[in-house]
Amino acid sequence: MLDNIKGLKRSHYCGDLEEKNIGEEVTVMGWVAKERNLGSIIFLDLRDRAGIVQIVFDDTVNEDLFAKASTLRAEFVIAVVGTVRMRSSINENIKTGHIEILARELRILNKSEVPPIYIKDDDNVSEAMRLKYRYLDLRKPSMQNNLWLRSKFYKITRDFFHDEGFVEVETPMLSKPTPEGARDYLVPSRINAGKFYALPQSPQLMKQLLMVSGLDRYIQITKCFRDEDLRANRQPEFTQIDLEMSFVDIDDVIAVNERFIKRAFKEMLNIDVQIPFNRMKYSEAMERFGVDKPDLRFGLELMDVSDCVKGCGFKVFESAAEKGKSVRAINVKGAADKISRKEIGKLEDFTKDFGAKGLAWMKFNNGEISSPIAKFLSDEAIDKIKEKMEAKDGDLLFFVADKNSVVFDSLGNLRNKLAKDLDLIDKDDYKITWITEFPLFEYSEEEERFVAKHHPFTSPMDEDLHLFGGNMEDMRAKAYDLVINGDEMGGGSIRINNPEVQNKMFEALGFEDEEIQEKFGFLIEAFKYGAPPHGGIAYGLDRLMMLFTDSSNIRDVIAFPKTQSATDLLTEAPAELSEEGLKEVHIKVIE
Ligand code: AMO
Ligand code: AMP
Repeated sequence: MLDNIKGLKRSHYCGDLEEKNIGEEVTVMGWVAKERNLGSIIFLDLRDRAGIVQIVFDDTVNEDLFAKASTLRAEFVIAVVGTVRMRSSINENIKTGHIEILARELRILNKSEVPPIYIKDDDNVSEAMRLKYRYLDLRKPSMQNNLWLRSKFYKITRDFFHDEGFVEVETPMLSKPTPEGARDYLVPSRINAGKFYALPQSPQLMKQLLMVSGLDRYIQITKCFRDEDLRANRQPEFTQIDLEMSFVDIDDVIAVNERFIKRAFKEMLNIDVQIPFNRMKYSEAMERFGVDKPDLRFGLELMDVSDCVKGCGFKVFESAAEKGKSVRAINVKGAADKISRKEIGKLEDFTKDFGAKGLAWMKFNNGEISSPIAKFLSDEAIDKIKEKMEAKDGDLLFFVADKNSVVFDSLGNLRNKLAKDLDLIDKDDYKITWITEFPLFEYSEEEERFVAKHHPFTSPMDEDLHLFGGNMEDMRAKAYDLVINGDEMGGGSIRINNPEVQNKMFEALGFEDEEIQEKFGFLIEAFKYGAPPHGGIAYGLDRLMMLFTDSSNIRDVIAFPKTQSATDLLTEAPAELSEEGLKEVHIKVIE
């Protein structure tokens, strides 16, 4: 028979008890974390959301109570009344390690089967098991801590933006497709046969409408849904801190957001970050780091050596002299005898995943050069490379020759990998930078046309407006990303509020009138009635939480996340629908 809670009131959380409570009678409730029965004495760790406290049942003090306590097993739910006393063997590893509770009363409120996973932080259990039994996984101190910190961050965010005069507005989840470029999650309509809602990829269009409405400053912490390939920092269902402001230009948006990030760092990590943050143009980020979200905590910068290898004799390098192609290199200082040929082979395979056809290398050791390409290169070319790369004895150079996009992608990612492998990153360092002046368009090889790099409502830079219809690949956008330690934490832009510019933009993207009407007709219509100049930004809240909790996996900061294949192992979503269920929403499944 189980006991009940009647007449008992919790006086303290387990983890909150301290030496100052010694002598007090307390009532605690929680889960049995561990029990050690030494024959005449039982030591039991009791866990609740605040931590663990040791409970003692002494056979010589109370025989019946001792007998009852002997039936306890891991994860039983109990209440204990007892007196706090000094502990004889102090445990400095836990917060309550100086004290224990000598039990006077025990109530067994519920039993537990043997849990399928240990409730312990470093238990090596597979992630699949953790996700299947997420409610048990969330009992772990680290997971509880992450959820607490996440909750704290919601409050910091809301407090900050409310103080700055932002109004919180909820936008619909059942909506029309939004233009963020991923695939939509769709919801069939029962009442309107053959029609579908799209779950929002972001509140982008709605927040622009709110600016037309005169809300002036909007914020929302909201779920977004994107059906895209998942990675370590991507979930199909994730949370944005989304905001929009009227009568602003880039610097106004950036200024508020710098204050926000400064406050967040102070309150989440107790770190003072200096504002204004560094700003770097997209073109500089690509040239120096090969990626648009550079990790600035280490060097290993890319260098263009195309000029050094002009007419050098090596076919692969020479053919990279054409327009839009290049040969670039990075110098891994002092790594000549740290990275073996076998390891270089693996690095070459790594770069091939990013489209590189090969990874040439050159080691300088004891005045000698070892390299598979040295035999193809003139002495003059080697000297020029050495000078440009500031290569010294002990250094290792890596080269990729290809069209620029492949060179940047492969070397940029190799740079990040090398920094991790060689342990070049200072974990306590935070490098925050805005990336600005993004290209307005991106050429899609798949669709053989220009697509918007951000979305079709992003304003071109004023200086580049004359390039519509001309060199559109050179057009830059009033867009900005916030990059911290090599991750894109947020992105936004100033929007187009001039109908002529908007029309040129649609034209450039090759949208037909009909398509525009169908997709964004309501927004274009709204813009006819006085759209103020406006712009905003959205942060990936989950990504910021990864930063604040030092997590490398986005799932560790989300209570009930999805797997890499977008499934929920706990509820087994997505699930099949019955014949009837399908009929009701007018859907036939094609095998
Ligand atoms: P964007 O598409 O850049 O911009 O998204 C903003 C931020 O959201 C985060 N993010 C994600 N986090 C987890 N999982 C995902 N699948 C995922 N996708 C994006 C990133 C990113 O920087 N409407 C615009 C914002 C604007 O222009 O105001 C937008 O959604 O941290
Ligand atoms: P190969 O001529 O294919 O034997 O290549 C000689 C060396 O050049 C090998 O180390 C290749 O990895 C490297 N290599 C081949 N193609 C490229 C390329 N596009 N960029 C950089 N290195 C390359």
